[in-house]
Amino acid sequence: MNKNRKLKENKIKGQIEETIVEETEIVGGGNVTEVTEITETTAEAVDITAAEAEAERNALAESIDEGDYLLKVEHLKKYFPLATDFFGRPTSFVRAVDDVTFGVKAGQTVGIVGESGCGKTTMGRTVLRLHSVTGGKVIFDGHDIGSMSASQLRKIRPQIQMIFQDPYSSLSPRLRVGDIIGEAVAEHGIVPKEQLKDYVLSIMNKCGLQTHYYERYPHEFSGGQRQRICIARALALKPKLVICDEPVSALDVSIQAQIINLLKSLQKNDGIAYIFISHDLSVVEHISDEVGVMYLGSMVEYGNKKDIFANPMHPYTQALFSAVPVPDPDVKNKRIILKGDIPSPANPPSGCKFHTRCNKCMEICKTETPVFKEYAPGHRVACHLYEQNNLSGITHE
Ligand SMILES: Nc1ncnc2c1ncn2[C@@H]1O[C@H](COP(=O)(O)OP(=O)(O)OP(=O)(O)O)[C@@H](O)[C@H]1O
Ligand code: SF4
Ligand SMILES: [Mg+2]
Repeated sequence: MNKNRKLKENKIKGQIEETIVEETEIVGGGNVTEVTEITETTAEAVDITAAEAEAERNALAESIDEGDYLLKVEHLKKYFPLATDFFGRPTSFVRAVDDVTFGVKAGQTVGIVGESGCGKTTMGRTVLRLHSVTGGKVIFDGHDIGSMSASQLRKIRPQIQMIFQDPYSSLSPRLRVGDIIGEAVAEHGIVPKEQLKDYVLSIMNKCGLQTHYYERYPHEFSGGQRQRICIARALALKPKLVICDEPVSALDVSIQAQIINLLKSLQKNDGIAYIFISHDLSVVEHISDEVGVMYLGSMVEYGNKKDIFANPMHPYTQALFSAVPVPDPDVKNKRIILKGDIPSPANPPSGCKFHTRCNKCMEICKTETPVFKEYAPGHRVACHLYEQNNLSGITHE
């Protein structure tokens, strides 16, 4: 089956031109509310037969259906066209997100880690439908985000917000803080008009922003305060899920702690779920309930934070975590140095995408894609090492 899968993986069929309606709203309660129609060429990747796909979907759905999930991401793909033929049809793609499956429960935090360029931001933006969905499903609160019309999307958008790494560039320099936070609140009718100012002031207060900041402009604030404004703007829309894309990596360590604590306290009070994207594994360990590890567009390991940090199973996760400093000087961490650079997502390696850098690579890894399987309750890994037949005879490269 895996050989078939591999063959079909290389075959991109049914490239379709579809007109999708995408809102140019800057998520996080941004100031542009105009809805535009854009034509985007989408590649529909048919990498496995319909029956196999259905079987795999069901197998994975079983494991993530058990809980009550606010968000379910199933086999999500986002390919960007790289080159087109004479007729403007795409001939090659950047496989930025290439089969990602996980779920987020209400009030929980899922941390997403992985090297630069592995598709974390694209995954977050595709969940929000800021990018069209190439393949797979995004189910939020029972709604299929990928197939929603523009007006349906507009209704659901307040419930999913995004906070970006650079708070300055996501804040309009011409708007006062009160207007930045209040604009989308008014747009979506979150509170009656006459209560708007009081509501915005209460949200500012919740986010540690003094009320007299209401009249001030973003350039008058520090990076940490600007990130608080972004958080207040997102929170004002009463979201159920906030996607935090490297929200603290541009801030000083002391300010990072304040922002993380703010996010945690908001979660405790309002039951918000987070997808927390970060390079900083110690921050991810601190804030997450579950952790997903991405490599070259794919989820390679996913599970409870404690399991993932105490018992990383995938060789990539093991290498990534071996770089985290251990506070105890008596404990020597054996660092695993990854050889080579991360391959291009436009031309990923065959079989296991990590095989070109893996210190446990076997022959099978070079040709057959490992299935993302559950090996312990809630702990899923895509690696041939754990498949029954491969438990013996590992030939290190
Ligand atoms: N709009 C786009 N068009 C074409 N390629 C894109 C686009 N956006 C992202 N990519 C490509 O998709 C891949 C994943 O990018 P993405 O920004 O999602 O990675 P990331 O994991 O968030 O990286 P970082 O940690 O540096 O933020 C990269 O190879 C990137 O060049
Ligand atoms: S499938 Fe093979 S190459 Fe990939 S991570 Fe596992 S052992 Fe390494
Ligand atoms: Mg990113």
